[in-house]
Amino acid sequence: MSVIGTNYLGATHAAGMAEFGHHVIGVDIDADRVKTLNAGESHIFEVGLEPLLAKHTATGRLRFTTDYTEIADWADVHFLALGTPSGPGGAADLSQLHAAIDRLAPLLHEPCLVVGKSTVPVGTALALEERIRRLAPAGDAVEVAWNPEFLREAYAVEDTLRPDRLVFGTHSAHALEVLHEIYSIPLSDRTPLVECDIATAELIKVAANAFLATKISFINAMSQMCQAAGGDVTLLADAIGFDKRIGREFLNAGLGFGGGCLPKDIKALAFRAEELGVTVLSDFIRSVEAINDGQRIELAELAIAQASGDVSGKRIAVLGAAFKPGTDDTRNSPALTVADRLHESGADVRIYDPQARLPPREGFTQVASVEQALLGADIVLHLTEWPEFRQLDPERLGQLVKKKVIIDGRLKLQAASWRNAGWKVVQIGRAGSL
Ligand code: UDX
Repeated sequence: MSVIGTNYLGATHAAGMAEFGHHVIGVDIDADRVKTLNAGESHIFEVGLEPLLAKHTATGRLRFTTDYTEIADWADVHFLALGTPSGPGGAADLSQLHAAIDRLAPLLHEPCLVVGKSTVPVGTALALEERIRRLAPAGDAVEVAWNPEFLREAYAVEDTLRPDRLVFGTHSAHALEVLHEIYSIPLSDRTPLVECDIATAELIKVAANAFLATKISFINAMSQMCQAAGGDVTLLADAIGFDKRIGREFLNAGLGFGGGCLPKDIKALAFRAEELGVTVLSDFIRSVEAINDGQRIELAELAIAQASGDVSGKRIAVLGAAFKPGTDDTRNSPALTVADRLHESGADVRIYDPQARLPPREGFTQVASVEQALLGADIVLHLTEWPEFRQLDPERLGQLVKKKVIIDGRLKLQAASWRNAGWKVVQIGRAGSL
């Protein structure tokens, strides 16, 4: 089989398929990335990925190429694992998928199955099938199925090898049979399986992401309520989370969601809902989005308020740049939005992250340690909850800063121990701390 696209999704899927015993060729137009992957190395930081790449480039079950002709006749299944970033107005930009199909389809002389894994607006799969059949010499013998991927960054390998459910969106018994064979290992482990039509499969993925985003925005809206009324949002989340129908996961209040998926996927869902006239959904999603954007603004405002309304010339230490812990990914990172905003307001921002390496950028300096970030700081911001930040010693760090003020944007610090060491701790969503 081939896997087209080798970023977070594609590289992990290719390695996972090899682990399931399949022979896999990963394809990408980026020659440097292909070279790295063929050396059994990973171009991204993702726990467990590199050992799997090393293992299967060595077993010979996995290799990578830039050449579509190598996969066209060799593979009978082609997975599409390309990015679908935000385009104009928030619509999903399908150009990577179209470009891949325009390269592959004219080379398809034999019957085969093209399986989409990318997150796409409902209706995309059938349009792609039409496009492929028009371009492929094999014509209608090429079929499309949709098998959305639910992997989380930082747990991508685990989620691929032991998915919590599988979704097969097909319109033929043959496609269904092929997918059953491909996933025989997780299926024999009793992984729940949903077999459905292609539109439902496309929608399941965006609905899952929209629901997760909704949970986060709900708890963040409740955190505003706690702030206004004098409550504690963490205790509230714990208490409602004990109800099995609600569940405690994705109820961590704070800076809200970021990353390469949730923000762009809900935008695309709102856009598609509007196109189809389902404004009840697009309006709903837009308010989820607005709450999320508001949290970033609120945090920057909290910092500005701590500097008596003016941060110009103030030194601000930012702990965390990745959009969440466990990854080096900074796409749509809430931490960076806050850092940018404070820089624009004239602050001197120093940022530290254990994994994320920022390209040189105007306005703030990335430093190599917590200590360097905190030296001479007027305000410290805890914006990505890396576990090591919970281990920090407030006593020792208090000697480095100019003012002992820390804003906990993720509600994960032991506020009491920081306060005992003489710090002012401001926690978004905890009224008592403001
Ligand atoms: C998400 C989905 O979880 C995954 O199923 C899908 O395939 C891709 O999108 P990912 O982007 O890796 O995965 O991140 P996730 O772990 O879901 O976190 C998303 C964001 O929400 C992060 O910025 C995180 O910090 C934030 N978050 C998460 C909260 O603010 N509060 C929470 O309680 C949970």
